[in-house]
Amino acid sequence: MSVLRRKHLYHFEDLESEAAKAMDPHPFSYVQSGAGHEETLQDNTRDFRKWKIRPKFLNDVSKRDLSISIFGETFDTPYFLAPIGNLGIVHPEAELAVARAAKRFNLPYIASTVTTFSLEEIAKELGTNPRWFQLYCSQDRNITQSFIQRAELAGYTAIVVTIDTPTAGWRTADLSNQYFPLKLGTASGNYFADPVFRSSLIQPPEKDFDTAIEKQMDVFFSPSFTWEDIQFIQNVTKLPVLLKGILHPIDAQKAMEYGVDGIVVSNHGGRQLDGCISTIAALPEIIEVIQGKIPVLFDSGIRKGADAFKALALGADAVLLGRPYVYGLAVNGEEGVSEVLGHFIQDLDVSLATAGVASVNSLNRSLLVKV
Ligand SMILES: Cc1cc2nc3c(=O)[nH]c(=O)nc-3n(C[C@H](O)[C@H](O)[C@H](O)COP(=O)(O)O)c2cc1C
Repeated sequence: MSVLRRKHLYHFEDLESEAAKAMDPHPFSYVQSGAGHEETLQDNTRDFRKWKIRPKFLNDVSKRDLSISIFGETFDTPYFLAPIGNLGIVHPEAELAVARAAKRFNLPYIASTVTTFSLEEIAKELGTNPRWFQLYCSQDRNITQSFIQRAELAGYTAIVVTIDTPTAGWRTADLSNQYFPLKLGTASGNYFADPVFRSSLIQPPEKDFDTAIEKQMDVFFSPSFTWEDIQFIQNVTKLPVLLKGILHPIDAQKAMEYGVDGIVVSNHGGRQLDGCISTIAALPEIIEVIQGKIPVLFDSGIRKGADAFKALALGADAVLLGRPYVYGLAVNGEEGVSEVLGHFIQDLDVSLATAGVASVNSLNRSLLVKV
């Protein structure tokens, strides 16, 4: 009897096509697609090809060190798991399966605001695994403050404020499909568990789901969000505050002036503004402004170890994995995520060795050339 085996998940293209088979078309499209004509989504990966690695050999690479330190905490590798909302549309175990996979490799998990499970449930699954909390600042400051306090209590050690979402991007695939999962309840774990949010409702979500979702949508997007709100967040937490979505060197400079503790160079995986700069193109100028004063994390377009190598060599301190692990989740739950994470770690390790570099901390611009 012939046994049909699925492909191993080495190539991003294979991962994506296996995920497409495993998921219903609309949720798959929600994860896969970008804003508008997907120019930025494509540039995010294509622009990595403009940088080539120039190996330097005859160094002892028998022992490789992937570890990095941020805010005094040492991490085994430079990989973080990016905040991804709505994972309940991908797999029933959603963030809990991802948390268990992260734990296998001790990789820090940045939990999104709009998760299917609550931040407390995710923290419980993570045990002592490192974790940060991604914050979408609510229109209602009391809810924002409550989320931050809950994250602190649940052992999250940094707050990552996403600044590139004053409103949802022009997501043509979702508009064509009329598919808006924020309204399904799979993004409500934190809201429905929140005492301040619940107290704003006449009936609890368990009794009147539609009104609760409507209320969540009302307070979710915050188009009037400014640098003053960042100060408010800094005032209500002792945790380090990072800004996710920095693309302009002037914003990077301003972040430092406002005493922000770190930034994430990100364009939300090309989901927000089509035609905006790819992150690998934005990174060098931002690194020049930051001058090593605060940590710079990077995401959008990391598809293999060599991409992480390039971002780190250009000056990023760590990189966030996004869609690759979501596809792993779709294909095979915790095991699928683990397979993907394992490959990324091994691929980076091999990339270091084959470039003649023993430690991620020795990566620098001289190892790259722009073509
Ligand atoms: C399905 C999906 C949901 C996302 N949800 C969030 C979120 O809740 N909060 C956030 O800050 N970023 C979110 N992002 C953006 C990711 O954190 C990250 O910036 C992006 O996935 C990086 O691009 P890449 O996956 O193409 O590498 C989401 C991305 C995807 C694909």
